[in-house]
Amino acid sequence: RKPENCAFVIFGVTGDLTHRLVIPSLYNLAAENLLPEKFCVVGVARKGMSNDDLRDSLLKGLREHATRPVDDVVAQQLLQCVTFVEADPKDPPSFDALHKHLDALECSRGTGGNRLFYLATPPAAFAPTAGALGRTGLLKEDNGAWRRLVVEKPFGTDLASAKALNAELLKIAEEHQIYRIDHYLGKETVQNILVLRFANGMFEPIWNRNHIDHIQITVEERLGVGHRGGFYDSTGALRDMVPNHLFQLLSLVAMEPPTRFEARAVRNEKAEVLAAIQPQSEADALKNSVRAQYVGGRVGSEELSDYRGTAEVNPDSTTETFVALKLAIDNWRWAGVPFYLRTGKALASKRTEVAIKFKQAPLAMFSGTPIDRLSQNFLTIGIAPTESIELQFNAKMPGPSVSIDGVEMKFRYGDYFKAEPSTGYETLIYDCMIGDNILFQRADAIEAGWQAVQPLLDAWKKAGSGGLELYRAGSEGPLGADELLRRDGRSWRKFT
Ligand code: BG6
Repeated sequence: RKPENCAFVIFGVTGDLTHRLVIPSLYNLAAENLLPEKFCVVGVARKGMSNDDLRDSLLKGLREHATRPVDDVVAQQLLQCVTFVEADPKDPPSFDALHKHLDALECSRGTGGNRLFYLATPPAAFAPTAGALGRTGLLKEDNGAWRRLVVEKPFGTDLASAKALNAELLKIAEEHQIYRIDHYLGKETVQNILVLRFANGMFEPIWNRNHIDHIQITVEERLGVGHRGGFYDSTGALRDMVPNHLFQLLSLVAMEPPTRFEARAVRNEKAEVLAAIQPQSEADALKNSVRAQYVGGRVGSEELSDYRGTAEVNPDSTTETFVALKLAIDNWRWAGVPFYLRTGKALASKRTEVAIKFKQAPLAMFSGTPIDRLSQNFLTIGIAPTESIELQFNAKMPGPSVSIDGVEMKFRYGDYFKAEPSTGYETLIYDCMIGDNILFQRADAIEAGWQAVQPLLDAWKKAGSGGLELYRAGSEGPLGADELLRRDGRSWRKFT
């Protein structure tokens, strides 16, 4: 279905996110005929430019980042909807001008007063921009028209700042108006976790501590920090990936079944399970974590320099580019089942997956088979590079004697479903326009995520460079990550 008519206002319209993701996603929606009948885009930035210059720049970005061949007719139709307005939160009259511009556009384009404000700005501008929108009355819902605010990641840099940002936003808008984006929820395979668990009868009965030994969540990247040194050095792998992307995966895998597939029920269960992550003292957080930084090495054909040698990175930086953690969830389903999480940059492969390790069968019957030949029973949800679900199990090898070998069954998305390549943002943007916030983060879930990692942030701050391991770019990561599992008698799933 088509969304209701609306104006789509992008703050930070000259930035990378708008050019790389937002406009190419709007283009894909336009190509699928999924934009509202009456629609307009208002680009906002602090420095003025003409409508034509903005359209040229967006078209250039679209040609560079489109996920499918650009049809000129569709592109022109979309770009003709775009106008530019200069506005700066520090300059209140400029927001009055934005208000007037919108009122006039709504009349001429017939978009009917529904407005979506997309904050594609650097994070420091989230609260001031939202504040200025609030003061100008632009977020007030009246005469049946909706007003929505989309906030990008990173949402805060620790528990206190996330709480402060939530408090600021909730002063000027209601929770149902706020759409906090985590692009992991736009990924088909991530959304499919709920379908796998709750639309099939065979998994849920064994999805608990009686049958599951532990769960591994891995997000490995080959890319180094590249041109994002300045941002990354004050952020690090933990803040950049864990309370948001990795916890999204964790909450979908670990949540209780929601009573309905609708936003309130799903978001309640997600928030509940994140709040159940066992609180840790700083000492325990240190014991249950590994942090490391890459030094120069070869990743594929590319030679990466030391992280500390990256532009805009402090040459004595203790920022981690890799983190591994062990967490526990305090509820009946998961008591005693460890969750191991790891993520890092400049590693040997690109891999995003959730691997569920089932308890081993009692082996007495097949005691003739060496235990390390037996496959571990992993059910793996592959998100990148291949969207897949695979099951590893044991089978009898052909022949007169009983010899066992590990085998696997693999379902690949691409073998069954043909989808146009996408940016991953289309579903999220479309959902904002139809008012479905099931795939967006609620304030309490965001805060529960930060709460769980805060002891680690505090402990690392105190430790400085103490405990920071180094690993070579292009390697499998630091030895400490293997040790974290080895001391529990476990190991990371091998990449097949
Ligand atoms: C972003 C992080 O949110 O996610 C990046 O800021 C990271 O550092 C990226 O590279 C990973 O996303 P994906 O979809 O490639 O796994």
